[in-house]
Amino acid sequence: MKKFHGVLTAALSGVLMAALAGCGGGSSGQKIVRIGHNQATDHPTHIALLEFEEYVESKLGSKYNVEVFPSELLGSQTDMVQLTQTGAIDFCVASNSILETFSDNYTLFNMPYLFASSEAYHASMDDPQITGPIFESTKKAGFQAVTWIDAGTRNFYTVNTPIESPSDLKGLKIRVQQSPTNVEMMRLLGGSATPMGFGEVYTSLQSKIIDGAENNEMALTSNGHGDVCKYYSYDMHQMIPDILIGNSAFLYDLPEEDRQVFEEGFAIVNEVEREEWTKAVEAAKERAENEQGVTFMYPDTAPFQEICLPMHESILEQYPDLRQFYDAIQEYNKTYSGGSSEGGSDT
Ligand code: GCU
Repeated sequence: MKKFHGVLTAALSGVLMAALAGCGGGSSGQKIVRIGHNQATDHPTHIALLEFEEYVESKLGSKYNVEVFPSELLGSQTDMVQLTQTGAIDFCVASNSILETFSDNYTLFNMPYLFASSEAYHASMDDPQITGPIFESTKKAGFQAVTWIDAGTRNFYTVNTPIESPSDLKGLKIRVQQSPTNVEMMRLLGGSATPMGFGEVYTSLQSKIIDGAENNEMALTSNGHGDVCKYYSYDMHQMIPDILIGNSAFLYDLPEEDRQVFEEGFAIVNEVEREEWTKAVEAAKERAENEQGVTFMYPDTAPFQEICLPMHESILEQYPDLRQFYDAIQEYNKTYSGGSSEGGSDT
């Protein structure tokens, strides 16, 4: 853990001020538990967090009032991680990419082509021997991960350039998440990396500030990117999980029996989101193709992989502590090789 962000960059919105007013207690002595995320209310993440809210309140409703804030109402993911770190809010969902800028350990799951299939991805993320030490590594910095959330496979999509091989990316401005690994990946693949927050992508595509972006299929529909981008190309470069993080002091201060209920709630978030994810991706593809006129393409992924794979060794040389987890992932890759990552669907 070495990189910290300074003061919150974005001005706190009115909604945030209102949300945080009277910080802590509800009207009837309940503790208000605030959870922020950046997805719309139709997204599996939101649906899963509402289940969490329902579960915790059904068990401990007299003590906790859980409030879920979608759609960047509490700021960008970077803002929300900082708010969670300081305890201004209790939980948020952050992409693993963003967490890389808070702790080097998270670099591991941002490596392009790390997982051989979605089965290998799921098995690795479900293995506490792999995730545990990474999830706890930021404890002293004010937050820790409590579960992971499937965010499918990331692929390139552009306004009007079909991406069939890495050379098609040349000269294109492609939005990436704000993480050094993603910027480097884009550089190697030949495109011009344009890092920006998720909430800015739609307008940037529309106003042609960027030529494309990379994300899972939900970005086309739930975020409307498919209204502007007409080519979605399954190069399958990353399976980057989202991570539910909680404020360390909040988690530490929970009485044992309450902690148990919260833990069950975290497991529900993971489970429900995964079930919803499968259905949501299917529906997103169908809608993107039939209503938004998006063409899905299935290029040979090998040339993309070949360019990106040297990143594995250079990252492991830079962060040697990650090698043990990387090796454990390779075992899952052997067990679940090929699988659904070749089929252009992470379902
Ligand atoms: C996905 C992911 C988000 C992330 C977004 C992005 O939607 O689930 O957590 O913020 O990609 O590209 O920024």
